[in-house]
Amino acid sequence: MLTYIRMRNILITGGAGFIGSHVVRLFVNKYPDYHIINLDKLTYAGNLANLKDIENKPNYTFVKADIVDLDEIRRITREYQIDGIIHLAAESHVDRSIKDPFTFARTNVMGTLALLQAVKEYWDSLPEKYEGKRFYHISTDEVYGALELTHPEGVPAPFTTKASSEDEMAYGTEFFLETTKYNPHSPYSASKASSDHFVRAYHDTYGMPTIVTNCSNNYGPYQFPEKLIPLFINNIRHGKPLPVYGKGDNVRDWLFVEDHARAIDLIFHKGKIADTYNIGGFNEWKNIDIIKVIIKTVDRLLGNPEGYSEKLITFVTDRLGHDMRYAIDSRKLQSELGWEPSLQFEEGIEKTVRWYLDNQEWMDNITTGEYEKYYDYMYKNR
Ligand code: NAD
Ligand code: DAU
Repeated sequence: MLTYIRMRNILITGGAGFIGSHVVRLFVNKYPDYHIINLDKLTYAGNLANLKDIENKPNYTFVKADIVDLDEIRRITREYQIDGIIHLAAESHVDRSIKDPFTFARTNVMGTLALLQAVKEYWDSLPEKYEGKRFYHISTDEVYGALELTHPEGVPAPFTTKASSEDEMAYGTEFFLETTKYNPHSPYSASKASSDHFVRAYHDTYGMPTIVTNCSNNYGPYQFPEKLIPLFINNIRHGKPLPVYGKGDNVRDWLFVEDHARAIDLIFHKGKIADTYNIGGFNEWKNIDIIKVIIKTVDRLLGNPEGYSEKLITFVTDRLGHDMRYAIDSRKLQSELGWEPSLQFEEGIEKTVRWYLDNQEWMDNITTGEYEKYYDYMYKNR
């Protein structure tokens, strides 16, 4: 029998970022009786324009703060009498972690630890303690390491979902399970793995009611254009080169961001304390293949001839330590909690490309100035 937990004051960290903004929107609209507090430092990746449509709702509050600042987080958890946390705030881009690992350790490890400690102290001070409380940590499939490409040409996927397309492929025999041993390779995934361990340690040591989920690559509106899909859509629009790392044969497992947000809602309310759930849509793509789908879709929507922007594909030096393949087995979440992705990939990518082309002002506001400088720093002279 699943218990359905209802809480009132929910702290969502990183709510001005890509996935966080979808989670905040979902909760604010779906639960008018909850008070949603969005805590975000507004780094380069945090953008309040992502939440324009809900910013004046009576059940929504934005608080600008750094999760590493223990005293400030102590104050916020008490002031807003936080009952539940959905923790998404993080440094999230692998390429940045290769350039600057310390920032990743600071935010992802020390920030998560500060949040755990502040919340623990507040809940410890209450008569009911941990009763009805939840600390839900959002993690990634990258902590499991990399899978092998045992079938480089792809074989029919062994598992299917309602939303999967008919020609769904798998590029290897192994998948990440909740029991797969952690084996992170990049400074980003090492910092996320470390934060996951701290979350579990706070359950195992102090009995904190924690949950961890590990999700595959998300795509959809409001993603910062340093990540593959929005970067390439924007570059095609401007006729700029599309930097494909290595040979483009790395494989990622893509999930529409709103399906991740729906999974988070379900797990936050019905997930088992101390448990772990993998989230993914059995939707593996080789980078070069997904890039061709993006090019085809953008060209069609811009009225260009088919294949017009393929000339922009530019093979560049590979990412250091580039993980070959990620593939999530999400059957536990599907069978225990009844979640499944809602969209076919074809539908999701069409929706995504249309959104970026229809919201060019959003894109232009964040791709000028500082970002351009960052882009040069990351990609020039490689
Ligand atoms: P993002 O980079 O778009 O957003 C991160 C947000 O966190 C930003 O709003 C930023 O301002 C905020 N933030 C960063 N440092 C902070 C600090 N010190 N204090 C407070 N706020 C801070 O990231 P995203 O892609 O939306 O990812 C969100 C979470 O989901 C991350 O924990 C990430 O590891 C995880 N995740 C992401 C994916 C993906 O494909 N994007 C997949 C699985 C898991
Ligand atoms: O798997 C979940 C993870 O997915 C999340 O935890 C991370 O926060 C998120 O950034 C994402 O990590 P990736 O490294 O897989 O995403 P990214 O969009 O950076 O790259 C996707 C693939 O495309 C990867 O194999 C690298 C490649 N790539 C990326 C960029 C930005 C290119 O070939 N060229 C590029 O310019």
